Amino acid sequence: MHPRRLLIGGNWKMNGDLAGGVELAEAVVAAFDPLNESVDAVIFPPFPYLQAIGRVLGHSGIRLGAQDCSSEANGAFTGDVSAEMLVDLGVSQVIIGHSERRHIHKESDALTCEKLHMALESGLQVMLCVGETGEERSAGQATAVVQRQLRGALTGLKADKLASITVAYEPVWAIGTGKSATPKDAAEAHDAIRADLEHLYDRPSSAAVRILYGGSVNAANAPSLFAHLEIEGALVGGASLKSADFASILGSAATAFKGRRG
Ligand code: PGA
Repeated sequence: MHPRRLLIGGNWKMNGDLAGGVELAEAVVAAFDPLNESVDAVIFPPFPYLQAIGRVLGHSGIRLGAQDCSSEANGAFTGDVSAEMLVDLGVSQVIIGHSERRHIHKESDALTCEKLHMALESGLQVMLCVGETGEERSAGQATAVVQRQLRGALTGLKADKLASITVAYEPVWAIGTGKSATPKDAAEAHDAIRADLEHLYDRPSSAAVRILYGGSVNAANAPSLFAHLEIEGALVGGASLKSADFASILGSAATAFKGRRG
């Protein structure tokens, strides 16, 4: 298979303010410019800043993403944001099933699946997050949990839609803890996800899905993660809030892509 560009996502979560977000986006755009041909990038700012950050991203090639969307099209859902509204603001990708939604907001596999379908129907690309907790890993259930989350979210999804899906493997114990999975453990989890996709669909259609790693990715550990072909990019939280760190991760992804191309 032809190596493809790695995808780097910056998940800002509920951080920063408008002026700081604009400044951060401007710095990321400047750092991305010379890498444009060798890495894909998407930034997920908080909802209220989407439009302003979208303006900064402009035609830079960095795509605008959102951190969540409703499973409903419209109506009396106070506080929710629909996929169509995101499209209206120029958003092209949405995170679905992030562990902070699953654990803090108690979102089920079934709701994750409904959101995924709604996002795709609205024309958004989906960044589907899966990952086990530390307890589940210690109990030897990591693979089974990830498989359940993956199958739950993809229920009813036709193979021709897989090209609109990216999977982010984010072990919960690694998120925001400074304790990243080892590159080898991450690569093994990615292999299992890839095998499951091939089992659920077929090899050519599942090849369209990029599988990213997320969980304490930083400027220092990115190169060793990207040394594994199974790791096709990263979803970055904390380090995406510092332009120099995020730029360095983008640079490592570009270098890894060039290495893979040979
Ligand atoms: P982190 O977050 O990089 O701060 O661990 C990753 C994520 O939650 O997407």
